[in-house]
Amino acid sequence: MQGVTVVDHPLVQHKLTIMRDKGTSTASFRRLLREISLLLCYEVTRGLALTTRVIETPLATIEAPTLEGKKLVFASVLRAGNGLLDGMLDLVPAARVAHIGLYRDHETLQAVEYFFKAPSDLEDRLVIVVDPMLATANSAVAAVDKLKERGATNLRYVCLLAAPEGIARFTAAHPDVPVVTAAIDEKLNEKGYIVPGLGDAGDRMYGTK
Ligand code: PRP
Ligand code: URA
Repeated sequence: MQGVTVVDHPLVQHKLTIMRDKGTSTASFRRLLREISLLLCYEVTRGLALTTRVIETPLATIEAPTLEGKKLVFASVLRAGNGLLDGMLDLVPAARVAHIGLYRDHETLQAVEYFFKAPSDLEDRLVIVVDPMLATANSAVAAVDKLKERGATNLRYVCLLAAPEGIARFTAAHPDVPVVTAAIDEKLNEKGYIVPGLGDAGDRMYGTK
C-alpha cells in the first residue's frame, strides 16, 4: 500500500498479541504500549535528515553525523496518544509536543475537538502524529487537518492498529502523510471498533471502562 508501512518485527507482533488479549492488566497494557512505541518511533524516524558537526573523540577529530534542522514535534491525540508519546519521548527527549484533544461521538463517530496546543512554528518542523487506533480515521483526519491549518507541511502518522477502512480514508484525505502501523486488522464493526482489535485503547490504558 502506497505510503503505509506495517512494522512486522517479531517483538512488535509478540507484544501486540499480549495487548490484544482481554485478560491483560491495565498496568501491562500501558507498559507494552510504551515498549512498542520505541520500536514504532525507530521506524517512523527512519530517513530523518542528517548533517555533520566536528567533534573530537579521545583519538581523532572527525565530522560526525547529527540530526539536521529544528527539533521535531510529536502531536499526541488525547487521550490514548499519550500511551505512544511517552516511549517516543524516551527515544527523542528533545522533541517538542503538541496535544490535540479529540473524542469520538459514540452516535455519529465524528471527532469532536476539545483542546489544541502546539508549538507556534509548526511550518519549520517535522510533525509526527501519534494515536494508537486508526478506526474510521475521523480523528486522524481531523488532527492532521488542524495541524495543517496551523502551518504544518511535513507530517507523518503513527498508530498501533489500523482498520482497512481507516487507512483508505486517511490516505485519500492526506496522501502526503506517510502512515506507520504495527498491524492492519480485518474490518470495522457496526459501532466503529476495529475487529479483532484490542477494544477501546483509552479505557484499557487508563482502566476507565
Ligand atoms: C480513540 C483512539 C482514536 C480514535 C480512533 O479515541 O485513540 O483517537 O478513537 O477512532 P476513529 O479513527 O474512528 O476516529 P477516543 O475517541 O475513544 O478517545 P480517548 O482516547 O479519549 O478514549
Ligand atoms: N478507538 C478505539 O480505542 N478502539 C477501536 O477499536 C476504535 C476506536
